[in-house]
Amino acid sequence: MRAFSITRAPALLALALALLVHAAAARDVATNGDGTRLPLARASDPSCPWLGNVLDAARASPLVKGLVQRTRMAAPFGPGSWPAPLEVDDADAADDADDADRRRFGWKRALVLAAKARVADAAAASAWLPKNLLTLSDDLAATVFIAWYPDSFCCGAYHEAAIVFDVTYGGGDDAVDALHCPWMLVDKDRSMIAGREILGFPKKLGEFAFTLTTEDGATIDVSDPSVDVADVLSRAARVDASVTREGATLLNITGALTKKGFARREPLLKDERNVFLNVQTNHPLPPADASKPRDPACLGNRPRLLQFVFDEVVTDDTYDLKDAAVALTQTKTDSIGAPFGFKGIETGGDLDVLGMKIGITNFYTGLEGTPTLGPTVPSGFIENDDVYWLRYQ
Ligand SMILES: *[C@@H]1O[C@H](CO)[C@@H](O)[C@H](O)[C@H]1NC(C)=O
Repeated sequence: MRAFSITRAPALLALALALLVHAAAARDVATNGDGTRLPLARASDPSCPWLGNVLDAARASPLVKGLVQRTRMAAPFGPGSWPAPLEVDDADAADDADDADRRRFGWKRALVLAAKARVADAAAASAWLPKNLLTLSDDLAATVFIAWYPDSFCCGAYHEAAIVFDVTYGGGDDAVDALHCPWMLVDKDRSMIAGREILGFPKKLGEFAFTLTTEDGATIDVSDPSVDVADVLSRAARVDASVTREGATLLNITGALTKKGFARREPLLKDERNVFLNVQTNHPLPPADASKPRDPACLGNRPRLLQFVFDEVVTDDTYDLKDAAVALTQTKTDSIGAPFGFKGIETGGDLDVLGMKIGITNFYTGLEGTPTLGPTVPSGFIENDDVYWLRYQ
């Protein structure tokens, strides 16, 4: 490293970045584990002209290549994500997951309380999607969940809440099913930064309560590090989880655990392979000169579609909930009720819950360790006031 003077470091970092961007851009399509394809931006995409100037130099230099592999750029989630792998605790699951990549990264032993809710206003839900790229799936269902992650490779322990839509990308024979997250809250800034900047999850901060109440009436905070959550879950009679932001309880999910005899193992989020197509945005900057059609410095980057896969490895029983309820309140900054038929600020009510379950699962970045960028999102997305407030306010 002594050979590199400090003054040369920024240029080398630019080259390293260019190399990484090019690695993604040079392929025409990314294929996820199901064989679905997301067309990628091409290297010839003119939106970042400086890239072409440094690309060949970067590719020609083994030194720069080596540097890329030895910087945190090889581990986009940060130093915590590299190089130490996380393994599944459960011996059976480890045997199943014979591809080492499946076990490399993780959110370990996540407690997920997930409701399937009917999307009552398809037009309102569709207004949250980038037009012509994603459409709402015919099942008109959204997953609304609150999770407690006792450990994650990037960000330590944190809570998370989200709305996730079933969506379709493309049309006709080429249409593929995916998930899209238009709104998410967490209670740790590390997770918020990585989620927003890398994976296109529009995370904001919230405050969480997540408790299990046992058959003998003890109410236990699942985030208490001295608690064996799996043990408490096996004895739990009810669950209460809520998330509050700026004084308003936006989601309050409650339910009673059904007979333990009906427990089985199944993914909590959706599938064993959860393909997300999110929209990765910077905070939008207007072009310096409004009369110019394109910002040559790329500061006003348009949002891009981004593909990312979470594999789920379920290692514990999954329980159905009865008397399951999701109460929602929407505010000006979190007007999350529109897809569920609620109109107006400070309104809300119970969602039409189609089913709810709770269990302990593990998430892995699986066969796609890094996300892939897709097409540019046309204007009209973050220019939409509702989407802007949802993502940025
Ligand atoms: C959540 O809903 C339950 C049941 O209606 C209620 O008892 C509880 O107070 C609510 N919690 C919050 C934080 O609003």
